[in-house]
Amino acid sequence: GAPIEVDLSPIAEGQDIKVFWRGKPIFISHRTKKQIEEARNVNVASLPDPQPDSARVKEGHDQWLVVIGICTHLGCVPIAHEGAYDGFFCPCHGSVYDTSGRIRQGPAPSNLPVPPYAFISDSKIKIG
Ligand code: FES
Repeated sequence: GAPIEVDLSPIAEGQDIKVFWRGKPIFISHRTKKQIEEARNVNVASLPDPQPDSARVKEGHDQWLVVIGICTHLGCVPIAHEGAYDGFFCPCHGSVYDTSGRIRQGPAPSNLPVPPYAFISDSKIKIG
């Protein structure tokens, strides 16, 4: 599939959108300061799939989280802004992801993957 460009400017802080890339749902979250702090203030070593937030966002653009919205358990589409960590909640078997899309509770074995993408301006990304 071809890369897609997404204009981020309509997405208000605290909101997120879902787009499709190669037939996959992609969540783009405009994180609040609180959500960014929560993503950073974690003992990374304690996570089931240890990854610092800085490895999951682009430097200088850390208000934006871009993840593939397919639960790493059995492939359901999680719900954004749900669950105990204000990230994503998978209704199928209760996996809970945090504001960095990292698995925190439930049966999913790994974090929501980050697709290949790049900022082509401050308010536009290219996915793929
Ligand atoms: Fe998401 Fe099972 S598919 S928890």
